[in-house]
Amino acid sequence: MDKKRGAEIEVKNLTVGYSGKIVLENLNFQVATGEIFCILGGSGCGKSTLLKHIIGLYEPIAGDILIQGDSIVQADEQHRREIMRRFGVTYQGGALFSSMSVAENVALPLEEYTRLTPKEIAATVEEKLRLVDLAGFGDYMPAELSGGMAKRAGLARALALNPKLLFFDEPSAGLDPITSAELDRLLMRLRDRFGATIVVVTHELDSVFTIADRIIMLDKQTKSIVANGPPALLRDTSPNEKVRAFLTRDGLKAAGTGGRA
Ligand SMILES: Nc1ncnc2c1ncn2[C@@H]1O[C@H](COP(=O)(O)OP(=O)(O)OP(=O)(O)O)[C@@H](O)[C@H]1O
Ligand SMILES: [Mg+2]
Repeated sequence: MDKKRGAEIEVKNLTVGYSGKIVLENLNFQVATGEIFCILGGSGCGKSTLLKHIIGLYEPIAGDILIQGDSIVQADEQHRREIMRRFGVTYQGGALFSSMSVAENVALPLEEYTRLTPKEIAATVEEKLRLVDLAGFGDYMPAELSGGMAKRAGLARALALNPKLLFFDEPSAGLDPITSAELDRLLMRLRDRFGATIVVVTHELDSVFTIADRIIMLDKQTKSIVANGPPALLRDTSPNEKVRAFLTRDGLKAAGTGGRA
């Protein structure tokens, strides 16, 4: 049998929700190694919910999620932690610890998960800050950073353990277009230079068309995936009118006002 070597993540018959209330039902998709994969859909359709399940924070109602071939759903606590250590995550809203300096924030996973000496940790922190163009800002407190800098500091922390797999929830939300474009370039650099696999929840269309190799679009009404493929192809050829509308700026407006055919 085909072991599906290219799949970094496999989601199989996945149903997720909260206290029995279903948010998304029977999802099936894969994320290939080395691709930037975007999760799209209207507010409240379950993008963050899906992401949190994939990274093992919640237990699904049904189905399975394989990370590099290992089920994060069926793993026991110790194995689940081992799987979680393989990837970096930045949550919606950034979430740096405000009482710690930028450098201390980035050092946190290194202190928790490695046996590096303080000197080695400091060197690694400096290297990660350089990678996200924050060299020299280690001593700053999160409150002293601009929005874009805080996002990049969060990214540096996610990169601390050199993960080949990265998850981002709305990385460019609240950023100006130029800062947001810088963040896009950084993600593409991580993919192209380090072969990273990157899963991004976003609704910035500019960003999607710039960075995404493939997208899925979630739909609140049907609780399902309504599109899966390269964004430009879906925009131009999806048989689903909702999908074409969502992927076109004008269509987005029309879908909001005009609605039904
Ligand atoms: N911890 C939770 N407990 C109960 N219900 C939740 C929880 N988190 C989210 N929900 C519900 O699940 C649904 C999906 O929410 P989710 O945050 O995943 O949407 P989203 O697509 O990320 O939205 P947005 O684009 O606004 O970030 C919503 O109806 C929300 O109210
Ligand atoms: Mg969300």
